[in-house]
Formats: sequence, C-alpha cells, structure tokens
Amino acid sequence: MKILKLNAISPVADEIFSKYEYTDSCASPDGVMVRSANMADFPVTDNLLAVARAGAGTNNIPSAEYAEKGIVVFNTPGANANAVKELVICELFLGGRNITDAIDWVKTLKGEGENVGKLVEKGKSKFVGCEIAGKTLGVIGLGAIGVMVANSAAALGMKVIGFDPYLSTPNAVALTSDAKLVSSRDEIYKKADFITLHVPLNAETKGMINAETIKKMKDGAVIINNSRGELADTSAVIDALEGGKLARYITDFPVAELIGVKNAVCVPHLGASTPEAEDYCAVMAARQLTDYIENGNIKNSVNYPAVSMPKESAARVCIHHRNIKEILSKLLTVISSYGINVANMQDASKGEYAYLICDLDEVPNAECIEKLRKISGVIKVRLL
Ligand code: MLT
Repeated sequence: MKILKLNAISPVADEIFSKYEYTDSCASPDGVMVRSANMADFPVTDNLLAVARAGAGTNNIPSAEYAEKGIVVFNTPGANANAVKELVICELFLGGRNITDAIDWVKTLKGEGENVGKLVEKGKSKFVGCEIAGKTLGVIGLGAIGVMVANSAAALGMKVIGFDPYLSTPNAVALTSDAKLVSSRDEIYKKADFITLHVPLNAETKGMINAETIKKMKDGAVIINNSRGELADTSAVIDALEGGKLARYITDFPVAELIGVKNAVCVPHLGASTPEAEDYCAVMAARQLTDYIENGNIKNSVNYPAVSMPKESAARVCIHHRNIKEILSKLLTVISSYGINVANMQDASKGEYAYLICDLDEVPNAECIEKLRKISGVIKVRLL
C-alpha cells in the first residue's frame, strides 16, 4: 500500500504509516495525505481508496466527485481547534485596539534616539482603541472551533451570541451557558460588535459577507474570518472599510486587493500553524486513513457517513452504495444466497451516498463479490 503526501505533514505520522510506503512522489497511491494542496486536477487512479486532510476545511478536495468514485475524504475536526481559537482571541484584541498600525508607526521612529519616549507619548493618541470586555461577539458556526472561541470570549467578559443551524449535541453541551443562541445570521449582523466566522466554504456560505449583509451590521463592526476567504465578497468588504461602515476586517486568507487597504488586517493563513496543531492533525488524519484502509471503518468523513465497528469475523465486506430503496435487501439476498451468515452489520447514509460494513462468518468467493458489484446503485465493494 502506498500513501502519497501532497504537502509537508508532521513527522509524528511516520510511525503510523510504518507498514506502508509513505512517500512524497508516486504515480498511483492507495491513500493521500494532504494539507493545502489543490486536488482539483489530481490524477485519480482506480486504486485510490481515500484522502485524508490534515485540517478541517476540505474545499481543496473535489469531495463530491470522489464520493461518486467511492473515494472517502476525511478531515480532522477539532484537531487544530485550540490553535485557531488562540489566533481568533488575538485577533479580537487586534480588532478592538489599533495595535497593528501602532506597531508600524513605532517602526518609523527608528533613528529618533533619545526623542523616542517623547514622540511615543505625543503620538499615541492616534492609536486609541476599545476594550473587548462588554462588547458583543457574534459567532457564526458553532463547531469545535466556534464553541472554543465562544467560551474563551465569554471568559474574557464579552457578551457572546452564536448561530449554527447544524449545532451538534456534543457542541451544544460544550458551549458555555453564558452564550446565547440566536435563530438567524441576521440577528448576529444586527447585534454584534465583533463577528467571527467558523463555517465551511460551500454553496450556502460562499459570499455570505457581502454588501447587503454588511449593511445590516452595526456601524464600526469588526469581522474576523479564519475560515475561508471566499466567505466574504472582497470588494464589498473594501468599500465598507473605506466608507467607515466596518472598523476592521481581519482575515487569515489575504488576497491581492486587500493588501494595503486601511483597517484590513491580513494574516498569512496561520490559524493552524502551530507545531501542536500540526501534530494533532497529522496523527488524526493518519489514524483515520489507516483504519479505513485496514478495517474499512469511516470516522470524520465529509463525503461518506460515519460507520465503524470492531472487526471480529472471518471476513468483512465494505460496500459504498447509493442511498436508494431496496438496495440493502438486494445486497443481503446475494450474501445469503451463498449460504453465508452475516455476523454483524452497520449501514448509514449521508445525503445521496451510503456505506455498509458487513462482517461475515465465511469468506465470500469472487463470484459473490462480483454479483454484489453488479447490483445497480453499488459504487464500490471491498473484501477485507
Ligand atoms: C483548516 O482547514 O483546518 C486549516 O486550513 C488547516 C491548515 O492550515 O492547513
């Protein structure tokens, strides 16, 4: 089995792949480890089983196209959450206080010798900023990162409001009771002094910060975007910064047009760039990938449902299939027609795709596997 690294991945993952050929160059890998490389034109071969992203966002991977081919795409939600949260907290202070401009200004005092102290006292009034305590923070997206940001901001004395139509039970439990859930993004826009985005980039979220939504915000609002640049319409943001509607736009995803714009604070995609987060993401991605390759278990996939169970029987058949009527009974009919007992099974769906793990008391022969493959709606069959 060959695993291709498309980016530099923390070496803590090396040991997990000790039984594999783990390389940064090979023609037809069985698995891929990736961070930010764009896989849109990646040459997919038939043996590619899965791609693991060492990070949360998967917009650099054509996950829908891969689902159609039975290629599972994993991500590592939560593994870099603390790193991103710490950067967001830092950015809240950058948003309230005029720190980046002030530091730049101090650099211009080089060469002023003994006058520096006096010049600092004279010039500092240009850089007055506000405290974050008592201000309202609107958190859009309460996944692992959003919840951590909400909790830390509340602990710093901010009033926190959050919106997430897909809030999971564990995240709802982890969220501080000091945060108030609201029922629309508009409520966040209307009430928040600071808005932080923690949503994936998809058709629903692309361009959500635009001229119309900015109009709904408070005058002098600060937007913090550590999720993906395309969540915001750059020209609307620049207009709002130049017109004074927005006090600051702080982003981890700089684009050419934003550089040099007053009150645009551009950070070079540093959210997850800590050795701790890189290690956590690499280990989590590598474990998920090897557990899938070796045992067929799926945890934290963005294009297939979570299905996993301990492997205790003679054989395991893993089947990617469409989420359609009668397909399960057709699959089980084929298996039982070979007189094989199903010891355990689990099937789940995610949108139009589904995944079945079937543990069998006997190893099915090649003819049985071929018959399973031929059932209409079956995408891929693996015998482990
Ligand atoms: C993420 O999506 O979690 C980050 O973009 C990870 C990274 O910096 O690679």
